[in-house]
Amino acid sequence: MRTYLVTGGAGFIGSNYIHYMFKKYDNEIRIINVDVLTYAGNLENLKDVENRDNYTFIRADICDRDAINKIFEENDIDRVVHFAAESHVDRSIVNPEVFVQTNVLGTATMLNAAKKAWELPDGTFKEGKKFLHVSTDEVYGSLDDDPNAFFYETTPYSPHSPYSASKASSDMLVKAYMDTYKFPANITNCSNNYGPYQFPEKLIPLIINNALASKDLPVYGDGKNVRDWLYVEDHAKAIDMVQEKGRLFETYNVGGHNEKQNIEIVKTIIDILREELDDSDPRKEHLTYDLIKYVADRKGHDRRYAIAPDKIKAEIGWEPETMFKEGIRKTIHWYFENEAWMKNVTSGDYEKYYEKMYSNK
Ligand code: NAD
Ligand code: TYD
Repeated sequence: MRTYLVTGGAGFIGSNYIHYMFKKYDNEIRIINVDVLTYAGNLENLKDVENRDNYTFIRADICDRDAINKIFEENDIDRVVHFAAESHVDRSIVNPEVFVQTNVLGTATMLNAAKKAWELPDGTFKEGKKFLHVSTDEVYGSLDDDPNAFFYETTPYSPHSPYSASKASSDMLVKAYMDTYKFPANITNCSNNYGPYQFPEKLIPLIINNALASKDLPVYGDGKNVRDWLYVEDHAKAIDMVQEKGRLFETYNVGGHNEKQNIEIVKTIIDILREELDDSDPRKEHLTYDLIKYVADRKGHDRRYAIAPDKIKAEIGWEPETMFKEGIRKTIHWYFENEAWMKNVTSGDYEKYYEKMYSNK
């Protein structure tokens, strides 16, 4: 049975990936999820799988060399899928150092541990072992409004935020391992994800949460920054397909061909929520475009991201399956049905975070 070591599996994309993999492979695989459980990690996301015999959770920091080496020593790991990271741009602007620590040093620790466990005395690697580094399109920098400009795998790196700089650094380390040691790896650079279990510091769940609480809907700058949104399950599928069908040492861009201005996203959420709420629901009365509040722009705010997923389509046959209209409705439904989840993740430190980030805007 093939054994996966998933890092950051209690976060948004990691937990969706674990669900996807058990749905697809059921008892044919074993998953070990290593997560230190920062504010963004939540074991509630994995309630459905926690009792499976082929699932193990280990609470550990990816920067903890001894703990990570021990996991490799005690388990014959076949695949690493490396999600664990600090992932929010706004937090990186306030506190960049933890991004360097987790995203750069943590990735270095993961690479070293996998290399140590998989390398043979002649410097080659054990058959079939593979490491997939999950990264972002933000490493490529920002596009202008020219609708024919896209990020390709060959686009030079030009990160702007401390978050994207730390992810770019981690990508470079993976590339260095591949070039220097022929370390068996791939990198995926994906556009913005949305879907269930996303922490409400990111645009879509934050807007849903605020809208249902009749709170202001903060839109940075002129609201015309563009992101290329992909339903999270499509990303999970792409990661699996790259690991199974991709050429080793290659980078694959993953994107939805679904560019939207932020203001369009916010208005779509209001429109759908208004359709979903009963007329008798007191929240409906307040839920209008009047809740939209233009606030101070993010420092160094990238204007536009857009992926050209030509390579992954041509080589591997991956294409996004969930159209935005359907995906955003599914997502809103999920948050409706999981109010307790939202309550739990927004209790405690979230209020302090929100106050700190938005009180001066
Ligand atoms: P997330 O913030 O929801 O989850 C990150 C997870 O990593 C959490 O469970 C957290 O507890 C864990 N973690 C953080 N530091 C750790 C450490 N030192 N040791 C062990 N675990 C640690 O992030 P996400 O949105 O699920 O993103 C996952 C990955 O995908 C990241 O590498 C991110 O850069 C990348 N990515 C995200 C998006 C997006 O739209 N969210 C798009 C493209 C790529
Ligand atoms: P975010 O979800 O933080 O993803 P990223 O910055 O990694 O792309 O933000 C998506 C877009 O939404 C980005 O252009 C910033 C904007 N935004 C707002 O306008 N208001 C908000 O409260 C947040 C969190 C983001």
